[in-house]
Order: sequence, then structure tokens, then C-alpha cells
Amino acid sequence: MTRHSRIMGCGAYLPERVLTNSDLAKTLDTSDEWIVARTGIEHRHIAAEGETTADLATHAATAALRNAGVDIKDIDLIVLATATPDFTFPSTATQVQERLGMTWGAAFDVQAVCSGFIFALATADNFIRAGQAKAALVIGAETFSRILDWSDRRTCVLFGDGAGAVVLQAGEGAPGPEKPGIISTHLHSDGRYRDLLYVDGGPSATQTVGHLRMSGREVFRHAVVNLADVVHEALGANGLKPDDIDWIVPHQANKRILTSTAKKLDLPIERVVVTVEKHANTSAASIPLALAEAAEDGRIQPGHLLLLEAMGGGFTWGAALIRW
Ligand code: UT7
Repeated sequence: MTRHSRIMGCGAYLPERVLTNSDLAKTLDTSDEWIVARTGIEHRHIAAEGETTADLATHAATAALRNAGVDIKDIDLIVLATATPDFTFPSTATQVQERLGMTWGAAFDVQAVCSGFIFALATADNFIRAGQAKAALVIGAETFSRILDWSDRRTCVLFGDGAGAVVLQAGEGAPGPEKPGIISTHLHSDGRYRDLLYVDGGPSATQTVGHLRMSGREVFRHAVVNLADVVHEALGANGLKPDDIDWIVPHQANKRILTSTAKKLDLPIERVVVTVEKHANTSAASIPLALAEAAEDGRIQPGHLLLLEAMGGGFTWGAALIRW
């Protein structure tokens, strides 16, 4: 029997504290004008002292379960994407599992930085397709504020903290125009590009947490090409064309990347969900944050075809084609 997974509901959480571009300009040689013009970002949220990735993730997961109308008793898998775990181990996923009162099933982290949510979604989808899980929480949660070099204006203005989650449930048959579900997922990585986007610390190499380092212009260039390629790959695998997409729900890194990718696909920016202005780049959290907002405000409607895509450190990149 063919099985597929379907998104039953979404949840989002942003920490209370808002840091505006003008706030940053008080201590850095930058300006609201530069940040808005180059990135589209207006402000970001920053986790409170003592508030961790697991806290953000638990809020988002609870909201997703409520939105889906699914009880934690029915969940047998948690896959959590993060590059900013609370601890080297145990995983952030098992901490969330404990907080949700789940003492069965399996929970683990996935690390693919800004592509993390797509990698986690693909993992959970494949577990469900294989019959190894019935219902999954897929979470993207990050506290990038903890790995930023706050004296480096080229990077610290770009990122923020947040979490988003979806609930997946198994269904029989294959998704189709009348049947919602994840149609296909497509993952890629290429380790040769490590030095363009990385953190300069870690338990084994330096015994420190380290700080994020990025060659922004190069990452930008690769992002537009890789994202357009993987979107074509996802569409081609299913005999679809760009115009069939109702919504692109991209990783929210930079509004200019979103505009350039849409242009390359010959799609109007009106069909791209853009939320980067409100929370900056939240890495693995950004796709579920954008998805939750567009599902909540009614932009995404039953039957719509969604294309989720992301690119991040590694490099990693990927896409997921979904019938809502
Ligand atoms: O999630 C995936 C990972 N990340 C990304 O996708 C990010 C990809 N890259 C980008 O979004 C863009 O490359 C940036 C927003 C990071 C930078 O934009 P850019 O147009 O590529 O600027 P640039 O790095 O070429 O820098 C242009 C100028 C430089 O000054 P000079 O050398 O021309 O005098 C920078 O020093 O802008 C300067 N600059 C700034 N000025 C004011 C860099 N950061 C800032 C800043 N405020 N915050």
C-alpha cells in the first residue's frame, strides 16, 4: 500500500524582544537604510537571557499540535532541525520530547543549517512513507543570536531567533490535485563550499561554540543558482512547470535572493511568501515561520501547490513540493 504524509497544522514562536535596525545602528557602523535596501530586514527577535532553542521549539510544537487538532499521544516521531542546539548532547529534540510528556517513539536532531527544515521534513516524510512512523512533529528552531559576532556588521544584522513546527500524519495512497500531502522532497549538499558559510568553533575542533562567518556575496550567488535548479528538479520530477506553483515558501534569508529566484523562475514576487522583514534569517525556523503565517492569514488555501526551498551552510540545499 502506498503511503504519504500530510501537513495537518503549523505553529510558530518568536521571542518577545524585538531588535530593530536602528537599535543595531546605535552600536554598529550600519543603518536602517542599508539593511532594508540590501536585505529587506526591518527587525529581528532575540531570545531572552536563559531562553533556549528547546524553549522556542516547545512553544512552536505546542502551537502546531493545537492548530492540527492532534494529541501528543498520536505522535511517534520528532525531528528537530537546528544548528544552535542547547547542548552538544543530548539533542534538543529529546528535550522537547520530554517537555511534551512524550515517553514513546523517537526524537532526534537534524543539522543542515538554513536548509534544516527541508532536511527534517524529508526525513519525517520518508519515515512515514516507509511505515516506520504514523505521525511526526517536524520542528525548525534556532537561537542564532548566541553564535553571532555582534561586532561584525556583515553578519550580525542578518539573523534572528525563532521556531516553527508542523504536524505530519500518514495517509493512504499518493497525493493528487484532490488529495493533500507531500508530493516529493529533493536534498543536496556539497562540502567543498564549507568556507563560504561556517561557524569557527565546535566541540571536537576547538572546544568552543564559535561564531558565524560568511562570505555574503558568494553565498548569494550560489543561492540563486542552486535554488532555481532544485525548484526545476522538483517540478520536473512531477511533470509540473513553474506556473503550476501557487506559493513558493522559501527560506527567508534575504528579500533580494527571493526576488532574484522568483525572477529566474519567471514567477511574480506576489506568489512568494515573504516574512524576512519581520524576523530576519532564522535559519531552520524560517520556512515553518513563513508557512504558519501564510496558512493562518488565508493566503494558502486547500488544493494549493506549494514549493518550499532553502539553501544554507555546507552547502546544503533542497526543496519540497506539497499539495495543501
Ligand atoms: O541563509 C543562507 C545564508 N545567507 C545568505 O543567504 C546571505 C547571502 N548574502 C547576502 O544576503 C548579501 O550578500 C549580504 C546582505 C550579506 C551583503 O550584501 P551585498 O550587496 O553582497 O554587500 P557586500 O557584502 O558586497 O558589501 C557591500 C558594502 C561593503 O563595503 P565596501 O567594501 O563596498 O566599502 C561592506 O563593508 O557594504 C558594506 N557592509 C555594510 N554597510 C553597512 C556590509 N555590511 C554592512 C552593514 N551596514 N551591515
